[in-house]
Amino acid sequence: MIAALVNLTPGVGRTTLAVNLAGELALQGRRVALLDADGCAGAREWAGMRRANDLPALFDTIAITSSQLRCGVWGLATGFDHILLDTPSRSPAAVRAALLAAETVLVPTLSDPEAMGRSAATMQLVTEALAVEPGLTAALVLIRALDGLAVEPGAEVTVLGLRLPVAAAVVRQRRTFAESRSTGLLVPELEMAGRAEADVRHLVSEVFGRGSASSAG
Ligand SMILES: Nc1ncnc2c1ncn2[C@@H]1O[C@H](COP(=O)(O)OP(=O)(O)OP(=O)(O)O)[C@@H](O)[C@H]1O
Ligand SMILES: [Mg+2]
Repeated sequence: MIAALVNLTPGVGRTTLAVNLAGELALQGRRVALLDADGCAGAREWAGMRRANDLPALFDTIAITSSQLRCGVWGLATGFDHILLDTPSRSPAAVRAALLAAETVLVPTLSDPEAMGRSAATMQLVTEALAVEPGLTAALVLIRALDGLAVEPGAEVTVLGLRLPVAAAVVRQRRTFAESRSTGLLVPELEMAGRAEADVRHLVSEVFGRGSASSAG
């Protein structure tokens, strides 16, 4: 599976989610590459923290430019079971490139109406891609959600006339995720069998399939 995490809004949690999804898949025994198309402080920075602390990489983190994304993914497809794309904010060109390269797109979005509104420009790009790429699937992922928020399987969200499915697996506001982003550790390395790991595992199961050995090729 080739999965892109996109949102034009900065700081929504794309990188935190990307590294933890990649880590969970790797811990399940999958061969995983995380492509970092964000020239700023993306997945490479997180991988650098692991190196600095002599922690095992667990998965390959590869720097790539937006213009190399599509060919880069094709070139890597046979070597990995899953490829994840971490993308920059504020770059419609990078989001379009990721949408062209991906099989599924996740739009991490805070769940309050204002944040949803800020995701409308991203949803517009995703909707345009869905119209021309028959194999592409997409879902909003509610991130930093408060306790009590639940999503029914099959639910959809409409923002400014743009409708997209929402993943039933919700990623909650948890300190473990913030610590993961700032330390280079995965959430299960910070808290084994904790609630943050459960959030990630549920999303992995929903997006990549429980125990599936799907190939990126
Ligand atoms: N589920 C969560 N619970 C609590 N804090 C979170 C969660 N997800 C992300 N964060 C925090 O939100 C901040 C932004 O996260 P992150 O860097 O992953 O976002 P981003 O969308 O990749 O940002 P950028 O635009 O800089 O690329 C970080 O401080 C991170 O610790
Ligand atoms: Mg980031």
